[in-house]
Amino acid sequence: MTQSILITGGAGFIGSHVVRRFLKKYPEYQIVNLDKLTYAGNLENLSDIDKMPNYTFERGDITDNVFLAGLFFKYNFSGIIHLAAESHVDRSISDPDAFIKTNIEGTVALLNAAKKHWNNDYEGKRFYHISTDEVYGSLGIEGLFTEETSYDPKSPYSASKASSDHLVRAYGHTYGMPIVISNCSNNYGGNQFPEKLIPLSINNIKTNKPIPIYGKGENVRDWLYVEDHADAIDLIFHEGKNAETYNIGGNNEWSNIELIHKLCEVMDRKLNRPKGDSAKLITFVKDRAGHDLRYAIDSSKLQRELGWKPSLDFEKGIELTVDWYLANEAWMNRIISGEYEKYYETQYQKR
Ligand code: NAD
Ligand code: DAU
Repeated sequence: MTQSILITGGAGFIGSHVVRRFLKKYPEYQIVNLDKLTYAGNLENLSDIDKMPNYTFERGDITDNVFLAGLFFKYNFSGIIHLAAESHVDRSISDPDAFIKTNIEGTVALLNAAKKHWNNDYEGKRFYHISTDEVYGSLGIEGLFTEETSYDPKSPYSASKASSDHLVRAYGHTYGMPIVISNCSNNYGGNQFPEKLIPLSINNIKTNKPIPIYGKGENVRDWLYVEDHADAIDLIFHEGKNAETYNIGGNNEWSNIELIHKLCEVMDRKLNRPKGDSAKLITFVKDRAGHDLRYAIDSSKLQRELGWKPSLDFEKGIELTVDWYLANEAWMNRIISGEYEKYYETQYQKR
């Protein structure tokens, strides 16, 4: 079936993996990638597939109602996979306004554009909102987030994502829009902007800079390889039930300090450094304000109902990830020059 699908935020980390997967797997779909190209958007992430005949890039802002109306008119989308967002917790702490604007107002603008364009004809339509496990707040040392866990967001980022989730559900409930939501744990893999823990640490190890660990490094995250997230998104977009929520996670918990020690081991091996060399760069710095202690996802609903499971264990995933960054030095170097340097100094000098 020919379908015109809008993917927002497709020039970002996860979005670029989703765009690539859909273009290759569904040549009969017309994929439109709408991205504002903020500091986090990078068309280089898509340079291997941007000439494919079923791909179109549109630069624009999801908060721009007039632009969105024109886009829906031009492409007559039947499906929307909404990833565009401000995504970094630290930036949300120093500058929350952009998170409110894009994550909340932008999501509402998209919902309104879809609602208006579909005009109550929801046959064959789907609005899929990509969200995060951070909406559930922070766990203690035990327990897992299920789809029934109450929302308790703690940072401006997670509060803005929680707000967008509520609005998407409200449009489903009130107007009957065919919505579906997934909440995923921490992703890792190639093409991630080096403000996030893993690519930042890989780059710092490679360039012999301190690896900044917030607080004591005791905070725990549940890491999922980005391709496995893209696989879950594909499955939920096609087979998820309307109005449902699906949790996605790696069943792969690491405290930050354990994770960084693991990464240092891999880096020592890949860079032919003596064992223990990279770990000397570990530096404990001032904690993140309001730092959530632990996230961990129960993804049994997705596994049971749609048959998904992560394809890679962490050993393999982290090898692939390190290999990707080492092989894509030019990608990294283009990012870390210019604006990134200013961000890095402001973010880390105060710690
Ligand atoms: P990212 O920051 O790498 O990419 C975000 C993309 O959105 C960028 O290309 C950026 O240019 C674009 N964008 C930002 N504001 C926009 C606007 N106003 N209009 C149009 N485009 C805009 O983010 P990511 O890590 O790939 O995350 C993608 C989505 O997945 C987000 O919604 C995030 O909340 C969610 N998520 C991320 C993770 C993770 O570990 N990275 C985990 C769970 C959920
Ligand atoms: O859980 C899903 C979320 O995962 C996504 O919704 C977010 O978009 C994504 O950024 C990520 O959020 P985190 O805050 O968990 O990711 P980050 O890579 O920023 O940090 C991971 C952990 O490492 C966290 O406990 C903070 C810590 N950290 C991070 C950085 C950047 C450090 O100790 N030092 C650092 O320099």
